[in-house]
Amino acid sequence: MELCLKELKKELAGEIIGHSIHHFQEIGSTNDEAFSLGMEGAPEGTVVVANSQSAGKGRLQRSWFSPPQANIYTSVILRPEFNPADAPRITIMAGLAAAQTIETYCPRKARIKWPNDVLLDGKKVCGILAQMQTNEDKIDFVILGIGINVNISADEFPAEIKNTATSIAAQTAAFHSRQDLLITLYKNLSKWYKTLTSTGFEMIREEWLKMASLIGCETQVKFGNEIIKGKALGIDERGALVMSDSKGKTVKILAGDASILKEN
Ligand code: BTN
Repeated sequence: MELCLKELKKELAGEIIGHSIHHFQEIGSTNDEAFSLGMEGAPEGTVVVANSQSAGKGRLQRSWFSPPQANIYTSVILRPEFNPADAPRITIMAGLAAAQTIETYCPRKARIKWPNDVLLDGKKVCGILAQMQTNEDKIDFVILGIGINVNISADEFPAEIKNTATSIAAQTAAFHSRQDLLITLYKNLSKWYKTLTSTGFEMIREEWLKMASLIGCETQVKFGNEIIKGKALGIDERGALVMSDSKGKTVKILAGDASILKEN
């Protein structure tokens, strides 16, 4: 079913996120559009949402599978007044909001893989691409691009992600309203963003850890050509992954692709 903008606007009136909605049938990438809007001065909480993307972007220069009619592709503009070094907190916050949204459809099944992939049954159902624009050492804006596989069936995924991707429909054997899911997502984002900017990161960190998949496991993190192996211990006050390496030394990692080598 198509999104109903009128209902979306009614449901989101008064929320921090979603008060201004830019909707497209097809677009290159909602992140690119949101980035242009951010540069033009669009206010915090403006969102871009599309029915399909012809050039959906993933983390680490990957592409994001974005067929029409089935899934959610949205980007949110935020203008937090904190140090750029603390920006990873925002991606952790977004992962928590997305995971809790997905969990309403799949109770007790959603897990977050650092930094912010959401997994169902060990497979990726949601990815988040954060892009930041700074100005004289301050955050001008952050774009949070969120892709959720909602109603796509398992056999529709391209061969290269067939074994690693899933959708809410594939896990629940039912189709779901993208409109309702989007409203829940924006409301959860509003709630946790308000917590982050008013009371700080600690409560978000605690809730995130309850849903985290890597903690206590032998883990590998790849960033470019570098590979770090060790036991994942948690995340620190900035959202960095804390690991104990093979020599027992504590290391903190701000970006990368994590995978479990051995469950605890
Ligand atoms: C990842 O690699 O896990 C991040 C995927 C992010 C995909 C979303 S879909 C909406 C937004 N627009 C994009 O081009 N990418 C993000």
